[in-house]
Amino acid sequence: MNIKYTRSFLKWAGGKYKLLPILLDEFPKENIETYYEPFLGSGVVLQNLPSNFKNCVVGDLNSKLIITHQSVKIDPLRIHEELNDWPNTQAHYNHLRNVFNTYHQNDKYCPFHLASIFIWLNRTGFHGLYRQNRDGKLNTSYGHYKFKYLDILKSLNIVSTKYNRLNPQFICGPYDKILESTQSGDFVYLDPPYLPRNSTANFTAYLTTFGYREHKILRTFVDTLNKKGVKFLLSNSYTPETIELYKEYEIKAIDTKHTINIKTNRNVKEILVKNY
Ligand SMILES: C[S@@+](CC[C@H](N)C(=O)[O-])C[C@H]1O[C@@H](n2cnc3c(N)ncnc32)[C@H](O)[C@@H]1O
Repeated sequence: MNIKYTRSFLKWAGGKYKLLPILLDEFPKENIETYYEPFLGSGVVLQNLPSNFKNCVVGDLNSKLIITHQSVKIDPLRIHEELNDWPNTQAHYNHLRNVFNTYHQNDKYCPFHLASIFIWLNRTGFHGLYRQNRDGKLNTSYGHYKFKYLDILKSLNIVSTKYNRLNPQFICGPYDKILESTQSGDFVYLDPPYLPRNSTANFTAYLTTFGYREHKILRTFVDTLNKKGVKFLLSNSYTPETIELYKEYEIKAIDTKHTINIKTNRNVKEILVKNY
């Protein structure tokens, strides 16, 4: 049977849309009290979550991203109405990027306006990358893509309906904060920024760099989840370092295609690590 998966309204580096069949097949099949996803990105895994999870707690370090997901849940039409009036030109893109860069976490602003700008920049910026300069300003250039207003409206509505059904708790912050309340029997899907397969594969697509040091800290954190009796599934790149880091757990190698960080598509291996 061919299952039709929901696509996110965002393009995201490392987005898991294409891997959903493999990924969801690895998810636990029994009833689980709470699903956790602390590296939410485009939200596409949450948007296709099977029905055996009673509650969901999700988050990301990128607070503007989380505000965008929350706003889509509450009022997708309001977001679309704003987008609908914007011309798809380089000048307007640059203007919105300047506005976006003036938003700071503790400012008072309209979350729907921020969400509209976030989605616009994501869909019309180069490869949907979230690339920042040293001062933390988004500097992704204009991508010269079509903005498919009607497709976006459809996607926002579908995702909003899913979010209202799942009613996730959205948290802005680092993964250890998002996972603070995990309890024995809960399930966590971890999709951190991957350890680069080689130095030239390193690219800035997110808010922070997540290098070998951060992956070692994450492994220690995963060990504490394991000791607590929390089930976890983790995605990462297939490298000698990641395999060494997780050698005490079950590791599966999978073939996939990355399209966002390399010029030509080629099969690259990833790993899935789990403790159940
Ligand atoms: C590989 S992407 C997740 C992609 C997502 N699974 C999807 O399908 O779209 C990794 C995400 O981790 C977030 N991130 C980076 N460092 C983080 C941290 N320390 N805590 C929580 N989230 C973090 C990034 O903002 C990015 O959205």
